[in-house]
Amino acid sequence: MRVVVVNNFDSMSDEVAKLVIAQIRRKPASVLGLATGSTPLGVYRLLGEYHKNGEDFSRLLTFNLDEYVGLPGDHPQSYRYYMEENFFSKVGIDRTRTHIPNGVASDLEAECRRYDELIRSTGGIDLQLLGIGSNAHIGFNEPGTPFGSETQVVDLAASTISDNARFFASLEEVPTKAISMGIKSIMQAKSIVLMANGGSKADAVLAAVKGPVTPDVPASVLQLHPSVTIVVDQAAASRL
Ligand code: F6R
Repeated sequence: MRVVVVNNFDSMSDEVAKLVIAQIRRKPASVLGLATGSTPLGVYRLLGEYHKNGEDFSRLLTFNLDEYVGLPGDHPQSYRYYMEENFFSKVGIDRTRTHIPNGVASDLEAECRRYDELIRSTGGIDLQLLGIGSNAHIGFNEPGTPFGSETQVVDLAASTISDNARFFASLEEVPTKAISMGIKSIMQAKSIVLMANGGSKADAVLAAVKGPVTPDVPASVLQLHPSVTIVVDQAAASRL
């Protein structure tokens, strides 16, 4: 596990965007695993800048980590909408090359199986971007999720619901379930970049990087992966 500590959000975003660009230049038809939330917003903005300056994103395939159950893709708080707004529309990628679990599928279990099979059929994710929850979740794999889990419907932890309430008009509007790529699905990526900023992530980063490897700390599983880079700002690294 390589840990890179940088000054602030902007330098974290810059560092991670450079890692993504290096991956795309090495392999223009890379399969990228993508995250949503506040942490990657700077990365997506910078990747949009790279595209304006001529970088070609057209051969990528993308798979997002998760989607809320019950929110259609045109709902402003859905992760499909977020990706459209913050990334897909900025880098000129054909939407048929972008994949996000369908949170309104009539058969959610079948949707989970379809998603894992689709990832497998591409040969697997080359580079997976991750944020980390204040409870050390990755994707929406909350503490206690078995390391062998594949894509599944999950109940969001109370702390995740309150962390994410900032995006909704009220706590009651935050969905309580999501489809999330599983820990096993994430660990099958060939390389992983986890990013974190801000003091609210310091305990989670400490437990993930230096604590015991345990399902109680989902991100600690990354200690077992052969190619992980953790890019954290000083506040998130303050307890390391
Ligand atoms: C998002 C995801 C989550 C977030 C995490 C941190 O697709 O899978 O694990 O990365 O909840 O969220 P932010 O970045 O909003 O602090």
